[in-house]
Amino acid sequence: MGQNSDILAVDFGTSNSAVGVNLNGKAHIIELEPGKQTLPTALFFDFEEKMVTYGSLAEQALFEGAWGRYMRALKSLLGTPLIRESQPFLGKRMSYIEIVARFLSEMKARAETQTGQSYRRALSGRPVRFHADPKRDAQALTDLRECYKIAGFEDVQFMNEPEGAARALAHVLNAGDLGLVIDIGGGTSDFTLFKSTDSSAIEIIQSDGLRLGGTDFDRLLSFEHVMPMMGRGTQIRHAFGDKTHIAPNAIFADLATWQKIPFLYAPDTRRAAKDLLQYAVEPDKLARLNRVLDDERGHDLAFAVEAAKIELNTKPLASVDMRLDALEQRFEAPLYALALAHTLQPSAEQIAQMALHCVQNAGLAPEQVTHLVFVGGSSLMDVVQNAVTGAFPKAQTHHGAALTGIIQGLALASGDY
Ligand SMILES: Nc1ncnc2c1ncn2[C@@H]1O[C@H](COP(=O)(O)OP(=O)(O)OP(=O)(O)O)[C@@H](O)[C@H]1O
Ligand SMILES: [Mg+2]
Repeated sequence: MGQNSDILAVDFGTSNSAVGVNLNGKAHIIELEPGKQTLPTALFFDFEEKMVTYGSLAEQALFEGAWGRYMRALKSLLGTPLIRESQPFLGKRMSYIEIVARFLSEMKARAETQTGQSYRRALSGRPVRFHADPKRDAQALTDLRECYKIAGFEDVQFMNEPEGAARALAHVLNAGDLGLVIDIGGGTSDFTLFKSTDSSAIEIIQSDGLRLGGTDFDRLLSFEHVMPMMGRGTQIRHAFGDKTHIAPNAIFADLATWQKIPFLYAPDTRRAAKDLLQYAVEPDKLARLNRVLDDERGHDLAFAVEAAKIELNTKPLASVDMRLDALEQRFEAPLYALALAHTLQPSAEQIAQMALHCVQNAGLAPEQVTHLVFVGGSSLMDVVQNAVTGAFPKAQTHHGAALTGIIQGLALASGDY
């Protein structure tokens, strides 16, 4: 590989991450795992081997039931108080800031091994909005900046993720065309409106974003269609007398949320779950909740829901069976295509509304958009595509590389820093 700048382009995603560099004016994606252009944003603290594994190896450890702690979707903790919570891992108290930093530092080290260069600076993608609340949004950026510092980068610059995709996919447009990038990822939906000024140059007009993505789809599906089998919505008897009340939702909501799962294994939550079981009107269901917490198998549930979501979205099936061994041995339950569409329709409409806002905020009308450019894993969801394309009747639809569209543009842009 030729001599190049010391800047590493980083797409730190909620579900998948990627890094790249600008080589002689061209984007070059660095393989973070053999033969792979992306790395699942996941870590596994292996208590037996006393080491941390990353990406596919972390997933493998989880699926094999290794003794340790798995984590995914940590990007969603940025800007929330949970990112500063610390827990003991491998004999040391570690905050989630430090854990994110470890992941970034691992990507840096792998890139350096691949290219034989060292990277002192990073050009990092960022969602247009980590959070709707400006204070939280600013805090999220401060948190991420701190993670990059701890990971060993002396300087980090940020670029809106969909803007990266617009740069990578500029060639889709002819001069005068108006394109809208629709990047639906694991944690956020991001939009960039851009104009082609000549065959190679683009002008960024407007970006907007929404904290809603594929992990939220999983959360909604799990909460609606899995958690009721574990006691959500069932009655709990009062300790004295005949009265009952409905089981509190909080524990079920957290168990359905990828980034909250590791926090549920703390003693106070386990105790709360035991109390619910003791007074449950439907103890079989609450026993399942307790089993999942005792066996620390919350992520197995999340993966089962995600797999069913993707399978229903990619195959013309009326239903698929979710494998829920975590609840009971060989336990399966159907997820219906109609139920999925019904649960996710409001989210798809919210995404389409935000895409419209992006265009209207720029003082333009949806009919003026000539090209819709979809990137991000969740842009493959039919329910999302239908809602968005319906809002832009005149636009042609293009699909960029779902998982590498952003890193290509960031790598390209890193040549200008
Ligand atoms: N074929 C598919 N159909 C539907 N959803 C899919 C498919 N493949 C992946 N996904 C979903 O895409 C999401 C991951 O997409 P992506 O890798 O673009 O996100 P990310 O870049 O990590 O997140 P973000 O940019 O929001 O931080 C996951 O929620 C995953 O379930
Ligand atoms: Mg992304």
